[in-house]
Amino acid sequence: MIEIKRIETVKEWYKACKKAAAILYKTIPETYKSRTFYGIIGDIKALPSKKALSLISRKKGLGTQFAYLYLNHGIDEGKGYQACAAEALTSILGKRKYKIIKGQVLDVGCAVGVTAGILSLENVTGFDLFTDLLSAAQSVNSFTNRTNKFIAADMTKDWPFGTCFDTIVCGLVCHYLKTQSEVVTFFSNAYRVLKRHGSLVITMPSGSISKTSDLDNLFDAVEKSGFKVKRELSGLVLSTDSSHSLFWMFLIIAEKVPAKVSDIFIHPDFAFPQYRTPLTREEKGAQARKTVTKKRKVKHEDFKLITAGELKKKVSNTILDYSTVVQL
Ligand SMILES: C[S@@+](CC[C@H](N)C(=O)[O-])C[C@H]1O[C@@H](n2cnc3c(N)ncnc32)[C@H](O)[C@@H]1O
Repeated sequence: MIEIKRIETVKEWYKACKKAAAILYKTIPETYKSRTFYGIIGDIKALPSKKALSLISRKKGLGTQFAYLYLNHGIDEGKGYQACAAEALTSILGKRKYKIIKGQVLDVGCAVGVTAGILSLENVTGFDLFTDLLSAAQSVNSFTNRTNKFIAADMTKDWPFGTCFDTIVCGLVCHYLKTQSEVVTFFSNAYRVLKRHGSLVITMPSGSISKTSDLDNLFDAVEKSGFKVKRELSGLVLSTDSSHSLFWMFLIIAEKVPAKVSDIFIHPDFAFPQYRTPLTREEKGAQARKTVTKKRKVKHEDFKLITAGELKKKVSNTILDYSTVVQL
C-alpha cells in the first residue's frame, strides 16, 4: 500500500518537473539553448566552486538552461541518469528506507530536489551551489504542495547548519570534491551536522570509481571521518531489467559513530579526483556532443546490489567499465 502511494507521488513529481521545465524553457536566451546537459556539467566540474558560481552568474540565462536540462534530461520522467540513481537507491533500500532515511534529512547538492521528490520524503532541507536549480526545485515543490526547503550553500565551505539532522543524503555529489581539503571539509561538516547514530547515504556515478580497491579506499576515508560503513548495503548497484541500457552507480551507507574529532585522520593521499571519470574536459565535451540526441528510452525498474566484498571476489583487479559491469 505504501509502495503504491509512493509510485503515485513520484509520478506526480515527474509531471511537476515537466511543467516547471516548460515554464523555464520560455525564459532561456537563444544563445544558450544549444548548450548540452553534460557540457554544462563538464564546465562546472572542471572549475573550483567559486569560479563555477561566477561562470553561471556572469552568463545570465545559462543557469536557466542548466535547470531546464536537469528537469528534462537528468530527470526525464525517471529515464534520466540522475532520476534513475534515486530510483535505484529506493529499490535497494526497500523497506529499510524508513530505518535509514529518517527524521530531518539534509540533501547535499540537491539540484532540483531529486532525492526528496523520488524517495517521497518530507522534512527535507536541500542545498546546492546554483540558485537556478534551487528555484526549479521550489517551483516543482509548489506544484506538488510539498514543504521541503531549498537553500543556496557551498559544500566546500562551512555548512550553515547546527547538529540537527538525522540523515544526510549526497546523491551523485561527492565526485565534485576536488582537493583533499575539500574532502576533509565535507566529511567534518557531515559529521558535525548529523545527530548521534545519524545516517550518511552517498551515491557516486558510474565511471567515478574504476577499481574495487578505490571503493575500499573510499570506505576507509568515510570511516576515518567518524562513520561506520554498513558493508552489507554498500557496493555497486546495477540495473537488471534491460540488457540494451545498462545503469550502474556506487552506494555507500554509513552511520555516525561517536568519535573524538582529534581521532579523525584522512590519509594525505586521499582526494576525490581519483574518483572522477578519467576523461579529460575535451573528451567529455566530445562525448556529450555525441550523446546529446541519445536519450535513454528505458525507465529501469529492477536493480541489484553487489556488495564491495562480493565485487572483490568477482572482479578484484579489473577496471569497472561497461564491459565488466554488464557481465556481473
Ligand atoms: C550530479 S548532480 C546531483 C544532484 C542530485 N543530488 C541528484 O541526485 O540528482 C550534482 C549536484 O551537486 C551540485 N554541486 C556541485 N558542487 C557543489 C558545491 N560546491 N556545493 C553545493 N552543491 C554543489 C551541483 O550543482 C549539482 O546539482
